[in-house]
Order: sequence, then C-alpha cells, then structure tokens
Amino acid sequence: MSLRLGDIAPNFQASTTEGDIDFHEYLGSSWGVLFSHPADYTPVCTTELGKTALLKQEFAKRNVKVLAVSVDPLEKHIGWKKDINETQSCEVDFPLVADENKTVANLYDMIHPNASETFTVRSLFIIGPDKKLKLSITYPASTGRNFVEVLRVIDSLQMTAKHSVATPADWKHGEDVIVVPAVSTEDAIKKFPKGVKVVKPYLRYTPQPE
Ligand code: BEZ
Repeated sequence: MSLRLGDIAPNFQASTTEGDIDFHEYLGSSWGVLFSHPADYTPVCTTELGKTALLKQEFAKRNVKVLAVSVDPLEKHIGWKKDINETQSCEVDFPLVADENKTVANLYDMIHPNASETFTVRSLFIIGPDKKLKLSITYPASTGRNFVEVLRVIDSLQMTAKHSVATPADWKHGEDVIVVPAVSTEDAIKKFPKGVKVVKPYLRYTPQPE
C-alpha cells in the first residue's frame, strides 16, 4: 500500500554520493525532502537536480535536508553529478541515493508499472522533524517539478504546524493566511492580535502570524 499523509516515512540505509547513510539519522531533527527521478544522464532530471542545488540556501534557511533517489548505481551518480555541476552552474552537495536494488523505490512506491516497469517516476515526499509524511506529489517523467513551489509548500507546512491557520490558493510567504474553521471568530480575535478580517463566518483572514 502506498504511503499516506501522517504515516512515518520508512527508514532505510543506503549508499549515496555523500557516503553511506541511515535516512532517519541523516535527517536528525531537520525537515526532509526525498525525491526520485527516472534515471541519471537524462535532461529533465539534470535540470531538476541543478535547480535543487542552486536553492541550497533556501532549503538550509528552512532547516530542510534534501535527498535525490534513482535506481542507478553509485558510480553513475558520481559521473553524472559532474555533468550537473558543469551544465547547471551549481555544486550538488546533497546525497544522491544509489537505489540499485530498489529498496527505497519499493518502500516509497516510486515505481508505477503502468508508467515504467523499471524506472522511478518523479515522486517527492516532504517529511517533518517527527519523521511523519507531510506531503507527497507525483509527476510523470516528462514534466520537471517546480522547486520554488516545493519551498512555498514547506513555508506553508512549517507555519501551519505552529499556528491555527491554513494558507489559501497561491499563497506566498508574507501574505495573509486563513483562520482554520476549528477556531471561533471570538477566539481568533484573541489569538491573532494583528487582526481578523471576516469575509464570511467560515472565511476569515489574518496577517501571517510571524
Ligand atoms: C528526463 O529526465 O529528461 C527524462 C527521463 C525519462 C523520460 C523522459 C525524460
């Protein structure tokens, strides 16, 4: 069965371009982004890993550790990483997991046989410091992911974990957020000193709490 939000992200041990790791130990108290790509030395994957490397400071600011996975062997990852650095003007220094025996792919249901019997699709999982799965998305091989969107989602996940708010469509860091339905308007006014705008009894906005 595939993983569901709130499940513990399965642990694994693996060889990576940054050495052997135990996934949960590697994450420690950080958030994690674990994402699979179909294969090394492919064009879309090259841009995805390059973009992730270029956003290093953004992930670090949010206390997020990133790992990429494919079923290619370690030597292939090492050679391809040089190409990524060269063509995308970046320095990939997050682990590329060599999942030759498909341990991670199977644990995370990253192989979708009707898309490909052998390669992982573009799965992406965001894991909280409690090791629970907070978000999963799946893209086909033909569509590269938007890593700025991944950062936006992390901003939402981290804020909504701390405050009784949710984020509206297309929300970006710094914009007004929504008071969750479980909080009455009376309590919201006390909870959110920056103010509460009531559009409908069920649609209430407040400035971002922090
Ligand atoms: C790519 O990363 O470019 C790619 C991989 C598999 C199928 C199509 C594109």
